[in-house]
Amino acid sequence: MSIATSPAGETPTANASASSSSAPLLAAQKHLLGNYRQPPFVLDRGRGCELFDTEGRRYLDMFAGVAVASLGHAHPRLVATIAEQAGRLMHVSNYFFNAENLRLAEELCAKTGFDRAFFCNSGAEANEAMLKLARRYFFNRGEASRYRIIAFDNAFHGRTLGAVALTGTSKYREGFGPSLEGVTHVPYGDVAAVRAAMGPDVAGILVEPVQGEGGVLPSPAGFLAELRRLADEHGALLLLDEVQTGIGRTGRWLGSMLDGVEGDAAALAKGLGGGFPIGALVLRERLNSALPPGSHGSTYGGNALASAAARTVLAVIEEEKLCEAAQKRGEQLGRGLAAIAERLPNVCVGERGRGLLRGLILAPGVDPRVALGRVRDRGVLLTVAGSNVLRFTPPLIVSEAEIQEALAEVEAALAEIPAAG
Ligand SMILES: Cc1ncc(COP(=O)(O)O)c(C=O)c1O
Repeated sequence: MSIATSPAGETPTANASASSSSAPLLAAQKHLLGNYRQPPFVLDRGRGCELFDTEGRRYLDMFAGVAVASLGHAHPRLVATIAEQAGRLMHVSNYFFNAENLRLAEELCAKTGFDRAFFCNSGAEANEAMLKLARRYFFNRGEASRYRIIAFDNAFHGRTLGAVALTGTSKYREGFGPSLEGVTHVPYGDVAAVRAAMGPDVAGILVEPVQGEGGVLPSPAGFLAELRRLADEHGALLLLDEVQTGIGRTGRWLGSMLDGVEGDAAALAKGLGGGFPIGALVLRERLNSALPPGSHGSTYGGNALASAAARTVLAVIEEEKLCEAAQKRGEQLGRGLAAIAERLPNVCVGERGRGLLRGLILAPGVDPRVALGRVRDRGVLLTVAGSNVLRFTPPLIVSEAEIQEALAEVEAALAEIPAAG
């Protein structure tokens, strides 16, 4: 891997000067595991939706660290909370209660409509907890053979071994076998396929309300409601992976709320901490006894610092009406992306998404990594999702003017791409 030139598949940015690729980049080259594909600059500080690298170059952040920095960078209230809490109490483990975590549990349940919460540190860990909850729930009821999980092609649930077994793209599982037993993948949106896969051994149906990593694919109208019905009919659980869609991203506290569907449990992470690592599993009261003392845990989960940060994120989203903002700014972004697709039909063919989780679908033959590099050269940070989608997940605080700026730069960047053919 050569970071100073062009990491595999990446287009070097305009500012990839020799000076920016000196000491820190050499350290990356020499000492970081080469499992990522970073562009050749080092981010140094941020404010709101802006990021600056060590050379002082500004970037407009339409990515938010994979839909995480929901309040943007260096939000004054989040900064103050973290500083104050770090000076009071950070970590005592789950051998003891801490007040911030108790308050967070109460507030998170109130916002999401669930009854109880288990805290951890990431999305994968929240999904692992949800998988264990589902299996152990039936085991405790004397149904040990009811352990199969229905999951979906193209889904993404994380990188731990349980989560990759649930993930519906074989490239994430390749070389890590043998895979966890008892997972059936069916096409996303295909009710008949789910019905055909159901049986007395199914513990749960696991679904993302919008498949994020898979290419920003919203579930078809009525699909989640059908899954709810099928789960009920077969005595199985509906398990929601709201790691990317949750905490305001789609314009509601949970993506599933857009469909008016209630799950039995949901996994949360990303936007919950606004950049401070935290994950959560929220669940219905009747599932509480599934994981008795000693059956599951997480050393750092729900520590006072992460809990205080998450409480501030929830409070700011509520007080600054950021769910409504995500809906409004999402519509603006969606309209703008659709207009770009109309004006540049050789480069992109449409847009899709919910709230501030949006994708611009590239035309066949357009290399998404080249498109990403061109956009980045113009100072806008995005990601690729699926095989052909540029994904936009800006902070929920993004302004109308910042969306406009991003749209203009993206259009200018894509207009430079020669028509595929
Ligand atoms: C839907 C979904 N589930 C789970 C994960 C994994 O989260 P983490 O990387 O925090 O483990 C992601 C991450 O992108 C995700 O989008």
